[in-house]
Amino acid sequence: MTDSLTIRDNRTGEEHEIEIVDGTIRAADLKKVGGLATYDPGFVNTASCRSAITYIDGEQGILEYRGYPIEQLAEQSSFLEVCYLLLNGELPTSDQLAQWTHDVTHHTFLHENIKSLMTGFRYDAHPMGMMMSSVSALSTFYPHASDISDPENRYLQITRMIAKMPTIGAFAYRHSQGKPYIYPDNELSYCANFLSMLFKMSERDYAADERLVKALEVLFILHADHEQNCSANAVRSVGSSQVDPYSAVAAGIGALYGPLHGGANEAVLKMLRRIGSTDNIPSFIEGVKAGNERLMGFGHRVYKNYDPRATIIKKATEDVFEVTGVNPLLEIAQELEKIALEDEYFVSRKLYPNVDFYSGLIYEALEFPPEMFTVLFAIGRTPGWLAQWQELVTDKEQKIARPKQIYTGERQREFVPIDQR
Ligand SMILES: CC(C)(COP(=O)(O)OP(=O)(O)OC[C@H]1O[C@@H](n2cnc3c(N)ncnc32)[C@H](O)[C@@H]1OP(=O)(O)O)[C@@H](O)C(=O)NCCC(=O)NCCS
Repeated sequence: MTDSLTIRDNRTGEEHEIEIVDGTIRAADLKKVGGLATYDPGFVNTASCRSAITYIDGEQGILEYRGYPIEQLAEQSSFLEVCYLLLNGELPTSDQLAQWTHDVTHHTFLHENIKSLMTGFRYDAHPMGMMMSSVSALSTFYPHASDISDPENRYLQITRMIAKMPTIGAFAYRHSQGKPYIYPDNELSYCANFLSMLFKMSERDYAADERLVKALEVLFILHADHEQNCSANAVRSVGSSQVDPYSAVAAGIGALYGPLHGGANEAVLKMLRRIGSTDNIPSFIEGVKAGNERLMGFGHRVYKNYDPRATIIKKATEDVFEVTGVNPLLEIAQELEKIALEDEYFVSRKLYPNVDFYSGLIYEALEFPPEMFTVLFAIGRTPGWLAQWQELVTDKEQKIARPKQIYTGERQREFVPIDQR
């Protein structure tokens, strides 16, 4: 048996042999079959790159970063360690981790003019909009970032972005609260510093509960990468024009802003509030099955099994609620999950809870307003976007992203002057 595909073109009777490599055929090879192209809205069955960063087996519910199972990373590593792993392919030695932590910690401050930019937003500006704008504005503060072929320069910009994202996220939050922005405290860990910038008031030092710091680490680790999702694809697509990484990541933030991607956990909370009590679950489920709405936090393009991140988050939810007290919406969520997992509609469509089903409950317990949920996702996802971007710019096979279309419009019409229309 050869690794090839024979295609018989019934229009002409001709046969064509097409090579199969890594379980794929090259779409460009189809050109020789009478100029054939593939049509794949939403890229449901199209590989756009080779990648060695994240492995997902959606049928079995497996997620690995650089070959390490997400469960082990969430349990045993820190977020900065995971960032290093995603970006470099290997877990850091203790010296490497110390250097990396030092570098990130010393880039957490923002230029004062970025702060001024942020203060210029309306009082009710969505923090994701503020974050997207601020990250793209960073490209004007670091014009050398456009030299993407220099590995040292890339390292500097990557470090800056990972360091500054929590500062931007926290400033956006303080802005929405009308509170003074809190500068980074370089004595604190990545997540403890973030909590300090968010919640510190008049106290000299802000010491977050260690269990909450750990929960945030876990949440960031779980969100750190997810291979070719909508926002990673946006980063790669924009990055393929060889623009600087701030502009490419700003595009990723824009993609994440959408309700079908990063906004789902906020939608889950709204849904749980609307359901209001476990008594209303059966009628709600009937409405979903009738196609009136979706059960938010359920279903995934890739996972056709329990999302492994949802299992870890469910456990973290319990740890957080030990500190903060139980959120009554948890009971509704658990009951909803139980019913949906037994219902033929959800079972036959392989709809299981995804990462967003429980994350909103944790974020709310940590006293984040819903508009901040996607900002937290963006901070966690930044190393993934940057690892994907770095892989893209060092991949000789990559080209500027430019899909084909099937043109369905009019052709060759005569212009009609306005008074004759
Ligand atoms: C994530 C999501 C966009 C994936 O979509 P997709 O891969 O394009 O899947 P489809 O929209 O084709 O759905 C396949 C079938 O399952 C149904 N379905 C998918 N998600 C559903 C949900 N959350 N509730 C109810 N039905 C759902 C669809 O109606 C469709 O049914 P049909 O075959 O009878 O028409 C989708 O599952 C969804 O909208 N989920 C809710 C939002 C969410 O939680 N997003 C976070 C993702 S991490």
